[in-house]
Amino acid sequence: MVDIHTLDFEKIISKKGFLDLEVDHTLDLFVEIEKLKKEKNAIILAHYYQEPDIQDIADFIGDSLALAQKAQSTSAEMIVFAGVHFMAETAKILNPQKKVLLPDLNAGCSLSDSAPPLLFKIFKDKHPDHIVITYINCSAGMKALSDIICTSSNAQAIVESLPAEQKIIFAPDKNLGAWINKQTGRNMVLWNGACIVHEMFSFEKITKLKVRHPNAKVLAHPECEVPVLALADYIGSTSGILKYATKSDALVFIVITEAGILHQMQKDNPTKTFIPAPPNNTCACNDCPYMKLNTLEKLYLCMKYELPEVTMNEELRIAAKIPMDKMLEISASLAL
Ligand code: 13P
Ligand code: SF4
Repeated sequence: MVDIHTLDFEKIISKKGFLDLEVDHTLDLFVEIEKLKKEKNAIILAHYYQEPDIQDIADFIGDSLALAQKAQSTSAEMIVFAGVHFMAETAKILNPQKKVLLPDLNAGCSLSDSAPPLLFKIFKDKHPDHIVITYINCSAGMKALSDIICTSSNAQAIVESLPAEQKIIFAPDKNLGAWINKQTGRNMVLWNGACIVHEMFSFEKITKLKVRHPNAKVLAHPECEVPVLALADYIGSTSGILKYATKSDALVFIVITEAGILHQMQKDNPTKTFIPAPPNNTCACNDCPYMKLNTLEKLYLCMKYELPEVTMNEELRIAAKIPMDKMLEISASLAL
């Protein structure tokens, strides 16, 4: 067994904080992680795109809104975020006094990367009479430049909570923004960002799947492009997709989002069939390369050594919390 006091963390942790230790293969990591949870008063929050083992050991699985709400309400002293960096950062924004850990600090997000705060500030300054609504898939720096944060499950309600004549910039996801514009009849100015996973789905291949499974319901995440969304019977967040599949009488579903969600869909609905929508080439691009950086081994190591930790400048945290609080207040008032 490794003795933490003899470890040279400078060597173990690369500049981005990635733990590169060998884990004893005879350990039952499920048992060890459960022990660490109790010992450290820790909660594991996981997103539906995490690998199945991580979803199974998590205390709470949810979409971005539910995860933020859980991060806000938990009494645990340590939050272990099995998701990507912006999600763990959001938990830290809401919980400055708690230790927030992310199993792999390299777990970023292409959508978040598509909106660098410095460039966005120039764009924002060109639209002085606009309110900025920003999708939660963004950095703390972007949040600090925003008026209200939203997620895919409350974006429409948040936009509709503003007067019809209010001018709005929506960032960073142009696909979600375009879909909300269509749903609400607004004309929000869209930042040109996108998710590499959701832009990969193939319209042609999904159309062929629909022909082969004429009774299948097609469920899509709003980060997909317009032609792909046009094929869907239901469009919503990961939790929305899961709920729709569970309530529906249909037996077969084509699922157009990151394939990790199929684990929970199948668990909740063992007699139904879920077909992951194919990407437009032969790669496994319907797996988010960032989400899948987290493994059970890294989760165990991060809980054991309490590293890597997500930390934040206090001034930035306070500025980023204002639009987060607005989102949580609006969501609570609408019982979302
Ligand atoms: P949800 O909030 O729908 O879970 O979306 C998170 C995400 O990153 C989608 O790519
Ligand atoms: Fe970001 Fe896309 Fe991965 Fe979601 S699926 S975390 S939006 S890169």
